[in-house]
Amino acid sequence: MRINKIYSLSFLLLVLLISCNENSNKKESTNVVSVDSLLLIRYHKLLDFPVDSVAFPRSYNTKTKEVFKVASSDWTSGFYPGNLWQLYKLTGDEAFKTKAKAWTAFMEKEKTNGGTHDMGFKMYCSYGEGYEVNGIEKYKEVLLESATTLATRYNEKVGSLRSWDFNKDIWEFPVIIDNMMNLELLFEATKISGDSTFHKIAVQHANTTLKNHFREDNSSVHVVVYDTISGQVKDKVTHQGFNDNSAWARGQAWGIYGFTMCYRYTKNVLYLEQAEKSAAFYLNHDNLPEDGIPYWDFNDPKIPNVVKDVSAATITASALVELSSYTNDTSYLDYADKVLNILKSEEYILSSEIEAPFILDHSTGNWPKKDEMDEPIVYGDYYFLELILRSEKI
Ligand code: GLY
Repeated sequence: MRINKIYSLSFLLLVLLISCNENSNKKESTNVVSVDSLLLIRYHKLLDFPVDSVAFPRSYNTKTKEVFKVASSDWTSGFYPGNLWQLYKLTGDEAFKTKAKAWTAFMEKEKTNGGTHDMGFKMYCSYGEGYEVNGIEKYKEVLLESATTLATRYNEKVGSLRSWDFNKDIWEFPVIIDNMMNLELLFEATKISGDSTFHKIAVQHANTTLKNHFREDNSSVHVVVYDTISGQVKDKVTHQGFNDNSAWARGQAWGIYGFTMCYRYTKNVLYLEQAEKSAAFYLNHDNLPEDGIPYWDFNDPKIPNVVKDVSAATITASALVELSSYTNDTSYLDYADKVLNILKSEEYILSSEIEAPFILDHSTGNWPKKDEMDEPIVYGDYYFLELILRSEKI
């Protein structure tokens, strides 16, 4: 309650300060407000976005000045409700909780959508975040049904969950490094139901990924394609990276986060070792810029004249806060602090004048398709808020 009052008062003072300043000199309005105040303004832009069951905000095109909206079936739909839940946790402001509940309810129909491996991103980031806040029985039921649906994508012979269903003529059974992130839903499903089936599938998927996704230098391949008859690897390719042999920055981030999270649930030291080796690849790479925000792919030959990916930085930094709690390596928290400090600057926070429900600029979605290049993207914000919350807990 107290936090809520202080928070509301600061926001009120902030609005007064800005409106006075905007009247006198609109152009310089962001210069007189502190970065923390600028963040508060951005947080409130998430509340202003109109509630619409079929229009989840995914990204903002800074050139056309349009918010790109998607249906609940899109892999990114759960992040916006997740951002609202996290903002509630961060500020204590009930307005965020009210909106989070409304948007989360629009996700429910996805619990039976077996056409996607992105169930964890969609349902754990929305219902999972909400369940942590509310403990509502209904949320638990939705999470369990979602995990049951996700488990239908498991192939015993391959020992993995199938990632994508498109490109079936080229990829018999594709598994992407990103899929590690969906295991959290399965681990939690076992925790809340006592049914070990989910946990076992998650462990087998992680083991298969550990065996086949990493190169000698501990960078990860994006897509591993399997033969469903023999269970053997048929191909190793990329879909969102520079080429088949490159280290796509967000892919490296998913791997670090995924194996750190798997260690949390299993205490399998092999997962911890992989998380550390992948983190070392990322942190010691010659092409990681001084400010810690990676270019979209570590191997783009045009570096430094290429776009960066803030989402890769926020995912990695959040993962490294957790990883630091399992080891004595101080470089993990150093990186997380550096990223947090650099992102809390006018270079990365969206201008207060932009009417869009996002916080940070400069993420890159899909470089090969030239799609969502150097833009605010909803999952960049999700892991940024998680990074703040995790850092505050230390
Ligand atoms: N899972 C898709 C991505 O990271 O772009």
